[in-house]
Amino acid sequence: MTIFVTGGAGYIGSHTCVELLQNGHNVVVYDNLSNSSVEALKRVETITGKLITFIIGDIRDESSLTQAMQGCDAVIHFAGLKAVGESVAKPLEYYDNNVQGTLCLLRSMQTNSIKTLVFSSSATVYGDPESLPLREDHPLRTTNPYGQTKLVIEDILRDLYRSDNTWQIMILRYFNPVGAHESGLIGEDPQDIPNNLMPFIAQVAIGRRENLNIFGENYPTHDGTGVRDYIHVVDLAHGHLKALEALTSPQCTAINLGTGIGYSVLDVVNAFSKASQQSIPYIIAPRREGDIAACYADPSKANTAIGWSAKRNLDQMCHDAWNFQSKNPTGYK
Ligand code: NAD
Ligand code: UD1
Repeated sequence: MTIFVTGGAGYIGSHTCVELLQNGHNVVVYDNLSNSSVEALKRVETITGKLITFIIGDIRDESSLTQAMQGCDAVIHFAGLKAVGESVAKPLEYYDNNVQGTLCLLRSMQTNSIKTLVFSSSATVYGDPESLPLREDHPLRTTNPYGQTKLVIEDILRDLYRSDNTWQIMILRYFNPVGAHESGLIGEDPQDIPNNLMPFIAQVAIGRRENLNIFGENYPTHDGTGVRDYIHVVDLAHGHLKALEALTSPQCTAINLGTGIGYSVLDVVNAFSKASQQSIPYIIAPRREGDIAACYADPSKANTAIGWSAKRNLDQMCHDAWNFQSKNPTGYK
C-alpha cells in the first residue's frame, strides 16, 4: 500500500516510516517541518535502504494536501502541535493547527475517496484518572487546550463515522513515548528546552543541562514521584503498522498504546543512569501545574483488536535514548 503520512518527519512519524518501509509499504510524507528536520527522513532512508516521497506543506493548505495525497491508499495522521504549556499560552494556534488542520485533511481524504485513517491521540484525553489502569471506556475529559484538540478531533472522527459508516478509522491513544531507533540514527530532537522527562534527562546526562528538576515528591505513589506508562517509540511505531493492517473493515475504534506498567520519575532516573553510566543530578522542585500522580494503560484491547503488545522494557528505552543522544549530542543539527 502507499501510505500518506502527515507529520512523518517528526519523532513518532519518522520511526513509523521505518516500520512501514521495512514491511513493504510505500510512504509519502507531508510535513511543514515546523518541529522537525528533513535530515530525519534522510536517515530513515539510510536505515531502510528505501526512498521516501517527501512533500513540504501545511495540512491547513487544503489544495496542496488534496493534490499530494492522490494515489495513496491510507493516511496516518501525526501532524500537530504537542506542547501542553504552549497550548495554554496560544490556544488559537493549537485549535487552528490541530483541529482546522484535521478538518482539511478529512475533506481532502473525501475528495480522494481515501477512507482509511490512523490518528495520533493521547492518554491526555482521560484527564485525571478515576481508576487505574486506564481502559478505553474510561470517561473522556481534558485539562488543557492541547488535550482538548485531541478530544475534539476524536469526536469529529466518531461523528464522521456515524455519518458515513464506510470509513475505517483507528484512534491510537499513546501513553508516554520515549527512546529511539536502535541504530542511533533517529530519535527525539526537541527544538527548545525539553518539556518531557526522558529528553530532559538525556540532555542532563550529556552535559547540556546542569540538573533535572523533579516536579513533586509527595504524590501518592511508591516513592512519591509521578508515575507514567513509558513506551518505546519503536514498539509504538509497530503499533501503527498493526493498526493499519487491522483496518480491513469499516469501524471507528480507539485503542491504548502503552505497556501497562507504571514507572516513577526516580525509577526512570535510576534506569537512565545505569544505561548511560552517567550520574543524573537532580533537585526536588514544586509540582508542575496540571500534572497528575499516576497514569498507566490497560493495554489488553490493543492485543485483541490489532494483535499488538509492547516488547521493550525501561532499560531498553533508556539504552536507546542514550545511544541517540550520545551519537547526536546536538540532535540533527
Ligand atoms: P513531532 O512534533 O516530533 O511531530 C509532529 C510533526 O508534525 C512535525 O514533524 C511537525 O513539523 C509536523 N507538523 C506540525 N504541524 C503541521 C502542519 N500544520 N502541517 C504539516 N506538518 C505539521 O511530535 P511527535 O512526538 O512525533 O507526535 C506526533 C503526534 O503524536 C502528534 O499529533 C502528537 O500530538 C501525538 N502525541 C505525541 C506524544 C508524545 O509524547 N510525543 C504523546 C501523545 C500523542
Ligand atoms: C505530558 C503532557 C501530556 C502529553 C505527554 C506526551 C503535561 C501536563 N502533560 O505528559 O499531555 O500527552 O506529555 O507529550 O504536560 N517530570 C519531571 N521533570 C521534568 C519533566 C517531567 O519531574 O523536567 C515528571 C512529570 O512531573 C511527570 C513525569 O516526569 O510525573 C513525566 O512527564 P512528561 O514526560 O512531561 O509527560 P506527562 O506529564 O505524562
